[in-house]
Amino acid sequence: MKNLIRLFLILFATGLLFTACEGPMGPAGTAGKDANEVCLICHNTPNQDAKLAEYHLSKHYFGTSSSRNTKYCARCHTSEGFQEIVGAGKYVVSNDIPNGTRITCETCHKHKAFDFADDTVSFILRTTTPVSLNYNNNSKTTDFGLINNLCITCHQIRGVTSVNYTDALGAVKTFNQLPFFPLDNTKESTTVQYTVGTNFSVHDGNQSNLFAGINGYEYAGKTYTRTWKHSGFACTDCHMNEYNADTKTGGHTLIVNKAACTTCHTGTDKITPVQSLIDAKRIELAELLSTRKVFKKSTNSSGVVSYSAEPTHDFYGVLFPTTSSATIYATALAGTNTVSPTTGLVIYANKVTLAVDADFANRIGREWKYGELGAAYNYGYITSELSLGVHNPTYALQLLQNSIDWLNAN
Ligand code: HEC
Ligand code: HEC
Ligand code: HEC
Ligand code: HEC
Ligand code: HEC
Ligand code: HEC
Repeated sequence: MKNLIRLFLILFATGLLFTACEGPMGPAGTAGKDANEVCLICHNTPNQDAKLAEYHLSKHYFGTSSSRNTKYCARCHTSEGFQEIVGAGKYVVSNDIPNGTRITCETCHKHKAFDFADDTVSFILRTTTPVSLNYNNNSKTTDFGLINNLCITCHQIRGVTSVNYTDALGAVKTFNQLPFFPLDNTKESTTVQYTVGTNFSVHDGNQSNLFAGINGYEYAGKTYTRTWKHSGFACTDCHMNEYNADTKTGGHTLIVNKAACTTCHTGTDKITPVQSLIDAKRIELAELLSTRKVFKKSTNSSGVVSYSAEPTHDFYGVLFPTTSSATIYATALAGTNTVSPTTGLVIYANKVTLAVDADFANRIGREWKYGELGAAYNYGYITSELSLGVHNPTYALQLLQNSIDWLNAN
């Protein structure tokens, strides 16, 4: 990319780029040819073929979740959905996109203009505008830097996935699935109900927040370090670094070419030690939360351990008992989406389940302290972030260690 920018500067200096401003269909004669040369810097067959081949190695292209086309997923998981929300300045698409396609060249790219100055990135990317994060209920924008804003429009927490439910009498009502956001440490002396049907989980795309060292739950009175050695990097400085044909990483594969890191990190693996440390802390935190029944620890038949947050109250806000009881509770909010045979669109529905509580042995029997909510959220923040701390080792460790310390003291 540096070479490309340099080439533009040369073109600019020789006046070629001024003629290019007249566009590819410019006046007959030499100008048209010059414009073509500008276009051909990117639009030449070897370059286009190379980008396509690299992109075929990216999880965006082959991953299992890209092209999820329902209303609350399509903005990040389909090309059409992303174009719709960016174009219209919205956060949720207007409806399901039954024929939605997976992320492709046109998802990220759009020509804003052809008069390329020195900032090519702004001219060829679909969006570079600051992001209204779902974490803030889309109410304020955060600027992560030009290219990062493109990635982070998707690589952030997920937001709502449902808005209404059907009660026991068949009436359809609305509810707030995300009452917790943004988290607020001035509430630390209060308690909070974690009711069935509500959600504070983060989803797999939280890289934005960790990289910028923001939007973790930060305990009152503690100081947090937001920046680290690579804060000045863009996502693409690592995920689209120089393409390596041997390892099939870098460039438009979006997989980090780790060999290119060795120019500075000569022979030193900076990634594994960070990941081992953060993973151990993450488990230590989950174990503490399980011991006090904020989390429930489960082991599946193949021995894989997982942790999930355990609701304190039923859907209607009634405290769950800690001993066996014949009382009926609203124990679950079950998804009952159906597809309309006439329109092919999803009819969104959730139904309240009324039953005795079979999970009484795992219930905490009280509201959570606000700091417990913060600790549970921080566990999800790091887990769903997927880099295991690599995107900001110091902030990741502070979030986990301060959660552990708070639980031990409270
Ligand atoms: C800095 C690189 C770059 C330059 C220079 C550039 N483009 Fe593009 N252009 C792209 C990218 C990236 C795409 C989207 C990916 C794709 O469709 O190949 C694109 C897409 C297009 C498309 C839509 C293609 C399609 O398949 O829908 C057209 C038309 C286009 N460019 C015309 C031009 C013209 C004309 C010029 C010269 C004035 C030009 N471009 C210069 C990068 C560039
Ligand atoms: C339109 C939304 C969207 C945009 C824009 C986007 N991503 Fe993604 N990204 C996704 C989704 C969805 C997945 C998961 C794909 C799957 O599993 O099918 C993903 C997966 C990834 C992965 C995992 C790849 C792997 O092989 O494990 C990386 C890394 C990544 N994206 C980096 C980026 C970077 C860097 C940018 C900006 C240049 C970016 N993404 C822009 C939605 C997006
Ligand atoms: C705000 C953007 C956003 C929204 C909305 C969103 N996702 Fe995602 N999702 C992502 C990103 C980004 C990733 C990729 C994380 C990664 O692989 O690194 C992802 C990953 C996933 C994965 C794991 C992918 C894999 O291959 O392992 C699943 C499953 C998934 N999403 C399902 C959904 C569903 C279902 C919905 C709608 C209810 C949804 N997502 C809504 C951004 C989003
Ligand atoms: C996830 C987002 C994303 C997708 C999908 C994507 N690109 Fe790009 N592309 C970028 C970003 C970001 C840059 C700017 C890289 C930089 O400046 O470091 C870029 C730069 C480019 C360039 C100009 C730089 C160069 O080296 O020539 C071309 C051409 C290009 N992309 C073509 C494509 C084509 C063709 C596809 C589909 C096969 C594609 N891109 C898919 C994000 C994307
Ligand atoms: C300093 C380099 C660096 C920067 C900057 C960076 N990443 Fe990463 N990222 C990594 C490394 C290293 C991993 C660990 C996975 C690996 O080893 O490839 C990773 C992991 C990921 C993953 C999980 C991939 C998977 O395998 O599931 C996603 C998604 C991702 N990064 C997206 C981003 C986004 C979005 C940004 C910008 C906000 C970003 N990264 C900035 C180096 C970086
Ligand atoms: C321009 C030089 C340079 C490049 C290129 C570079 N790094 Fe770094 N990186 C540094 C410096 C300097 C530090 C801080 C001192 C140290 O930890 O060695 C650092 C620190 C880190 C750390 C934090 C280590 C810790 O223990 O806190 C990680 C993680 C990291 N780099 C990952 C990467 C990855 C992944 C790449 C390749 C995509 C990369 N770096 C490329 C210079 C670089």
